[in-house]
Amino acid sequence: MSERIANWITKASRAASGGNAQPWDIQFEEINSQIAFRISIDKQYQRDPSIMDVAGVASALSIGCFGRYLVGVALLDNFHLVNKKFNDLNDLWSSSVELLFEKNNMQSNEKNSLKLQEPFHQTNRYPYKKIPLDKLFEKQLEERASRYSTVKLHRINKEDVNFRKALNNLETVRWTNYNFLESLFKEITTSDTEQLGIPVTQLGISFLEQNFIKFFKNNLDLGFSMLNFGLHKATVQKNTENFLTNCSQIYFLQANDFSLQSCFDLGYCFQDLWIEVNSQKLSFQPNGNGFVALAYWHAPNNKIFNPKEISLIEDSTQLLTQSSELNLKAPVLGFRVGYSDKVIPLSPRKPLKGRLENGLINSFSLIRIKSN
Ligand SMILES: Cc1cc2nc3c(=O)[nH]c(=O)nc-3n(C[C@H](O)[C@H](O)[C@H](O)COP(=O)(O)O)c2cc1C
Repeated sequence: MSERIANWITKASRAASGGNAQPWDIQFEEINSQIAFRISIDKQYQRDPSIMDVAGVASALSIGCFGRYLVGVALLDNFHLVNKKFNDLNDLWSSSVELLFEKNNMQSNEKNSLKLQEPFHQTNRYPYKKIPLDKLFEKQLEERASRYSTVKLHRINKEDVNFRKALNNLETVRWTNYNFLESLFKEITTSDTEQLGIPVTQLGISFLEQNFIKFFKNNLDLGFSMLNFGLHKATVQKNTENFLTNCSQIYFLQANDFSLQSCFDLGYCFQDLWIEVNSQKLSFQPNGNGFVALAYWHAPNNKIFNPKEISLIEDSTQLLTQSSELNLKAPVLGFRVGYSDKVIPLSPRKPLKGRLENGLINSFSLIRIKSN
C-alpha cells in the first residue's frame, strides 16, 4: 500500500460511526493518477452488530461518513472524486460503495483560494449555551443539505411538546428494553486502552454517574431491574432535557428509503454538516433514537419489544409525523448544535488497513463505456 493510501485511510478512520463501531472494510487500487476504493461493512463487526444497526442502516450511513472524510483528505492531496458506484444488493450487509478519485491539475494558488482544511469533527455530549444560532449559518447548513436529493433536513421546534414527548419515549425504550440496554452498555468503554466504543468519560455525565454506568455494565441484570423499577425516569429526563434545551438548534436528517444510496447520502450529508458546524467552532451531538423505532418498524413481528414499548414507539412515530413531518419508518438521524467552551479529548480509533483489489479502477471505465 502506498504511503498516500495508508495516510488517507488512517485520516478517514476519524469519521463518525454509531457507537464508534468503525464498521468499515476497505479495498483499494492505485494506478498512476487514479485511486479507487470499495467500502463495505466489516465482516467481523457483522458477527455481533449493534441492535441499533437495523438492517445495516447505521453501518451504511457510517460508510457515507467515511466517504465524506476520504473526499476531504483527497482534496488536500489534489485528488477529487470523479465517480461513485453503489453495488446495492438489496441487503446493506453485503452491499458496497465504490469511489474513484483522479488527480487534479489545480494550481497551488487555486488550491489556496479554496482554503482547504483537513476534515475534523467531534461529539460534545455536555450542555451547550442556550443562545440562538447565527441566521446566516443556519441558511448555509440548510443550503448544504439541499444538495442531496435522497435526504431531507428538518429544522425542529425545540419548544414543541409533541417532539419532546416523542424523543422521551424513544429514550425510555433505549434505557428499559433489555436488548437495547445491553447494546448501550456494550458500546460504552471504561478502560483507556480500548480502541472501539465510547469512553465513559466522554458521555457528558458526572463522576458519580460514570461510576453507576461502570457498575451497571458489570451487573447488567441488576441494572436492568433497577432501571425498570423507576430509575430510568431520571436518566431519560436528564438526557432528553440536555439534548433539547442545552443547545441552539436541533435538526433531523431524513433518508428517502433503505436503499444503499439513501443511507450513504444520509451519512455523507450528516458528516458534511458536522464538519461544517465544528469548523465554525460550534459543538455537535448526534441523536440516534430514531433507530429504536426503526428496529420495530423494520421487523414488527420480532419479539424484542413488550406491548408497552410498542405503544411508546407507535406513539412517537405518530407524534413526530404530526410535529415535524419526520417518518420513523425510514432512516432518520438527529443532531443538536450550539456554543460551548468545553474541550473534548479525541475518541479512540483502531488501526485500519485496506486490501489491494486489482480491477477496481477498471470496473469504473466499464460503466463509463456502457453509459456512453
Ligand atoms: C449513525 C450514528 C448514530 C449515532 N448516535 C449517537 C447518539 O445517539 N448519541 C450520541 O451521543 N452520539 C451518537 N453518535 C456519535 C458516535 O457515538 C460518535 O461518532 C463515535 O463515538 C465517535 O466519536 P467522535 O465522533 O467524537 O469521533 C452517532 C453516530 C452515528 C454515525
